[in-house]
Amino acid sequence: MSKVSAIILAAGKGNRMGKDINKQFLYINNKPILSHTLKIFSENRLINEIILVAAEGEVEYCEREIIKKYDIKKVSFVVKGGIDRQDSVLNGLEAIKDCDIVLIHDGARPFVTNSIIEDGIKYTKLYGAASCGVTPKDTIKIKNQLNFSVHTPHRHELFCVQTPQCFEYNTILYCHKKLKEDKIKVTDDTMVAEHYGHKVYLYEGSYNNIKITTPEDLVIGDQILKSIK
Ligand code: CTP
Ligand code: MG
Repeated sequence: MSKVSAIILAAGKGNRMGKDINKQFLYINNKPILSHTLKIFSENRLINEIILVAAEGEVEYCEREIIKKYDIKKVSFVVKGGIDRQDSVLNGLEAIKDCDIVLIHDGARPFVTNSIIEDGIKYTKLYGAASCGVTPKDTIKIKNQLNFSVHTPHRHELFCVQTPQCFEYNTILYCHKKLKEDKIKVTDDTMVAEHYGHKVYLYEGSYNNIKITTPEDLVIGDQILKSIK
């Protein structure tokens, strides 16, 4: 049996939400967003441990007001995040003692499902790296700096990536360390693997697996939760 760890990222500031607290502490259906996310991972039969990455001043708050209060099991460590998301991921990876497969997931995506988690593990065993996502619903344009459309890729070539993004642990740890050394900026972890020549398998996530980012996502999130409970 492979040992599987999940890194849950919660160390962002939530600037686009425009509230004076970290967006992951806001409530959906009477519980903090982060507690919904952690609960799914903690109750999944294939997840052995959780590493929660929290902002420097919010580690104790997470331990008391999220993990203890909502009785979240399997959390091995709560570690401090960094300035950028990629720094937070590296802190999470370095906190893991040993594992075979690691899932990296945004704390702000509370509607991930057991099947998305389990497919990620399955495809990582087959291909070494995998990310869920969905086909975009809109037509996507490539534009130039003057805001003129220059090209329209076919929808079947496009994929909106979500999380979890799943990797063989040793590979992604090595790539993230190298990324820091090479001073390269990325916006997600599939880019890290790709940059160093690793293939990432893309599999179907769900249109419900949204990242709570701006205030209207709270309203949508409320409806999603009602529809799946
Ligand atoms: N994140 C993190 N550490 C950072 C930045 C982001 O752990 N330094 C986490 C966030 O907490 C979130 C996930 O990465 O769960 C995705 O990031 P995003 O949605 O951009 O969240 P924020 O950075 O908090 O939001 P914003 O960009 O609007 O400030
Ligand atoms: Mg951000």
